[in-house]
Amino acid sequence: QKQVKVGLLGLGTVGGGVYKTLLKNRDTILTRTGCTVEVVNVLVRDRGKERGFAIDPSVLTLEPQELLSDEQIDIYIEVIGGLHPAKEIIEQALNSKRHVITANKELMAKHGAELLRLAHQNGVHLLFEASVAGGIPVIHMLQGYLTANRVHEISGILNGTSNYILTEMSKTGRSFPEVLSEAQSLGYAEADPTSDVEGFDAAYKLAILTNLAYDTCVDVAQIDRQGISEISGHDLKLAEQLGYTVKLIGHAHEQDGALRLSVRPSLLAGSHPLARVDDVFNAVTLRADVVGDLTLIGRGAGEFPTASAVIEDLTTLLTQGENIRRPNWDRVQTAASHAEPKVG
Ligand code: NDP
Ligand code: HSE
Repeated sequence: QKQVKVGLLGLGTVGGGVYKTLLKNRDTILTRTGCTVEVVNVLVRDRGKERGFAIDPSVLTLEPQELLSDEQIDIYIEVIGGLHPAKEIIEQALNSKRHVITANKELMAKHGAELLRLAHQNGVHLLFEASVAGGIPVIHMLQGYLTANRVHEISGILNGTSNYILTEMSKTGRSFPEVLSEAQSLGYAEADPTSDVEGFDAAYKLAILTNLAYDTCVDVAQIDRQGISEISGHDLKLAEQLGYTVKLIGHAHEQDGALRLSVRPSLLAGSHPLARVDDVFNAVTLRADVVGDLTLIGRGAGEFPTASAVIEDLTTLLTQGENIRRPNWDRVQTAASHAEPKVG
């Protein structure tokens, strides 16, 4: 059996879930991959924080360089979030020829192309399944499976916090701030929940899926975006009386040779396949030319669904290594024919 050493950057909701799952499912991972995985170094901001689970304090560090200069580490997992210092840390890790796994959708949406290029140049991989739709393996579906299909349309519920808020407000009549604070305490929301409720988080995820599906590199600032913060309990009741449900829908499709991307609260008829995707669940429908419609549904946020996606990336690295297909997204600057994203 091979010993694999992991450097974990962040030990919050997702990092904690990754740490606990690597211990709990150690034997399963060994059986399936032939590797024992050990977390040898963990970056945090506060070493004294009560984390609700046992961890040897000697593996915790406040200093990114301590982790990055640790020669024994084979793979880094970045779950600190935000653009900085996450970007610089990932760049340094890739330049030191170590694989990186990240859950950071903002970073991948804004700087994915350059980071993927850097990984390619260094002969290592940057994997990011957890960055979109929590535990749903939609990146694997686009990257590892739908190779011969052309995707024509992507639509889905891409933010668990918003879906949780809309569901709870509609079913229980509770207020927006009350349900948002519950979503935060459940570990669903981003550090700044504006990203969730104003549609930024869903826009980042839509950009990532679009880049993979269309071999392009969209500018997230161009996505037509509206969040759910203006929606009242009254609006939801009215929609319900008319036979509709309100969902925050991310949508990408090609029209007149251009890509159109939007994130908007949308009225779905009760019979719509996404109308009953409630709570923290996400759903993504990919419409492709050969297979037709494929819809994946699962928990879109939270400790263990997200840890699952991170660890499946890890086992993919351990079992497939060199055979992992690289996205074309990092090569689009040299591709002549990709459609420019347009507002709307
Ligand atoms: P948390 O805020 O719960 O955890 C962040 C962790 O990173 C904490 O352990 C914190 O340390 C550490 N950290 C943050 N900044 C620094 C820094 N500058 N230096 C050192 N350590 C730092 O975030 P989440 O776990 O919720 O999210 C992490 C990432 O995963 C984000 O990119 C998020 O978008 C993504 N994600 C989150 C999901 C979720 O459901 N929560 C789902 C999918 C993706 P300390 O604990 O000491 O404060
Ligand atoms: N804050 C995000 C959400 C986490 O609620 O969907 C999962 O990416």
